[in-house]
Amino acid sequence: MNAEEIKRKALTEIEKVEGSKELEKANLRYLGRKGEITKLLAEIPELPNPEDRKKAGILINSIKEEIEATLQKKEKSLRKKEEGKIETVAFDPTIPGTKTEIGGLHPRTQFRKFVKESFELLGFEEVYAPHIETDDYNFGLLNMHPDHPARDLWDTLYLDERILLRCHTSNIQVREMRKRKPPIKVMSFDRCFRYEAVDPRHTHTFPQFDLFYVDRGVTMANLRWLSDYFLKRVFGEETETRFRPKYYPFVEPGVGVDACCPFCKGKGCKICGKGWLELAGAGMVHPKVLENGGVDPEIYSGLAWGFGPTRILMIKLGIEDIRYLYEGDLRFLKQF
Ligand code: PHE
Repeated sequence: MNAEEIKRKALTEIEKVEGSKELEKANLRYLGRKGEITKLLAEIPELPNPEDRKKAGILINSIKEEIEATLQKKEKSLRKKEEGKIETVAFDPTIPGTKTEIGGLHPRTQFRKFVKESFELLGFEEVYAPHIETDDYNFGLLNMHPDHPARDLWDTLYLDERILLRCHTSNIQVREMRKRKPPIKVMSFDRCFRYEAVDPRHTHTFPQFDLFYVDRGVTMANLRWLSDYFLKRVFGEETETRFRPKYYPFVEPGVGVDACCPFCKGKGCKICGKGWLELAGAGMVHPKVLENGGVDPEIYSGLAWGFGPTRILMIKLGIEDIRYLYEGDLRFLKQF
């Protein structure tokens, strides 16, 4: 192939190129170290006649320049084309957007907010006590010495002989009395633990709610009013409540708080059994417990009131298996 032929071939090839990689290859094929034009240039000194050498030099160099110019032009036009392409891909207003899922509060969280707000309205302040607790605050100072049979009511997880995972939020009681002076008006909605196998009605980790109110002249009437107030808020204005005598070592007298079943209105049904739902434990703070907290039982009296929020939530929402509330299954959660 002579120089003119090589030039024609190169120019048509470059014209057809569609991408920068291909262009680079064309560049190498003609102008690279072993390129066809480079080879021709290297052959010039071998021509015997100086006149011919001069002519060939001029011709081949002008061809080289022409190829270079064409390559550059092509490179520019390719770049423009690619930039244009990027722009159209980057923003196409006709493509529908990706839908973002908006989450909601878990029913347990919704209920916690509801409970806390209900009692904030009455001036109760939220407090916390340790989850890993001493035997004293969890039991001993609440009138249950180490071999008290009432301890059997709670299946407690011990870390060693004196340290345990608290089995109720009532450990706030003596702690708060030792921290401040009456009037004390506090609540705690927090995590507790028991030695339980997980089944439709039990979990080893669960929330409890405790109210604790110590002042001059606190009576059972306050306890009645608070039970009414809260259970009506949960199950509706027409809900009746009642007290039954019940034993807890840290209250005297102690009561079980029941609500008339909102589903059968007290007739008896699958949910309540005999017409009443057992919902909370409560009572007047035992004088010994007040003393343990440094509060004089001759001057002050107090009430304590506690319940398991999960049980109330299950009844309210009609959930039969507690595990649904802990599994995070969206098919379940989206209903609330
Ligand atoms: N702490 C008790 C329980 O875990 C409930 C309770 C709280 C009872 C306050 C009386 C007063 O069962």
